[in-house]
Amino acid sequence: MASRFPDIEWHALVHYLDHEGFLFLQDYRRDQVERRLWGFLLREGYIRLPDLIEGLHRDRDLATRLKNFLTVHVSEFFRDPPYWERLAERLHATGVTGGRAWSAGCSWGAEPASFWLMERLHGHLWNIWATDTDSVTIQQAKLLRYPKDSLSPLLDPYRSLWRQDDDDSWSLISAAHDDIRWDTHDLLVEKGPVRAFDVVMSRYVLIYFSHEARRRVLENLVSAIKIGGFLFIGATETLLDARQFGLEAVAPALFQRYV
Ligand SMILES: C[S@@+](CC[C@H](N)C(=O)[O-])C[C@H]1O[C@@H](n2cnc3c(N)ncnc32)[C@H](O)[C@@H]1O
Repeated sequence: MASRFPDIEWHALVHYLDHEGFLFLQDYRRDQVERRLWGFLLREGYIRLPDLIEGLHRDRDLATRLKNFLTVHVSEFFRDPPYWERLAERLHATGVTGGRAWSAGCSWGAEPASFWLMERLHGHLWNIWATDTDSVTIQQAKLLRYPKDSLSPLLDPYRSLWRQDDDDSWSLISAAHDDIRWDTHDLLVEKGPVRAFDVVMSRYVLIYFSHEARRRVLENLVSAIKIGGFLFIGATETLLDARQFGLEAVAPALFQRYV
């Protein structure tokens, strides 16, 4: 597909954002970024990328808004329900009933919250590290408070683990605040702790990266999993090269680290 922006302007923006440490656009898929960038320019009233760079010089908040806009935050509770059921079955069948989990690219928190709810209902206790590169999203996620319309009937069995704040929002009970720790963390820049987690969830995150960046991030994610631990990815994502990373497919979108 033809690029929306002239190469020279695109590379100038990539270089500027990299140099300022804002965002490593070169590690994301250009076609996807360009599409969103177009929307951002329209929203913020810019026409060309050089004008945007000028704006970024003047207004530091613009960079925060840009990062928030370019990183896609679509998420939902128990996204792809059968995949969550299989995750629970596999964990419980292998005797994994607690430990440490990492939700890498957690967006506004539905993913770590789903994992917490699923396991808590079984009485299993987990320490969950929930991270995302976008600090605005993490600030929202850590409240563990959700608008009524983001809650789905899938959450009905977990009623006892929620409390209603007001007519429009619900929160998870305080135990969830104790069990989930939130951090801003960029998978392109920082590694996770080595062999620290029984489960790493990173769903619908790798798909945004360039081929080379995906390989790097995947290596880092796998290095954070204990031997015998699990990697859980999105239902529509593929990991045909799993064995190269020391992973074995044990169910759709679920992999176990064997070395
Ligand atoms: C589509 S959402 C997926 C959310 C959740 N994992 C799910 O499946 O429902 C992708 C998330 O990845 C995050 N992300 C993008 N680049 C990242 C990076 N370099 N490091 C960490 N998170 C990143 C985005 O900010 C966004 O919240």
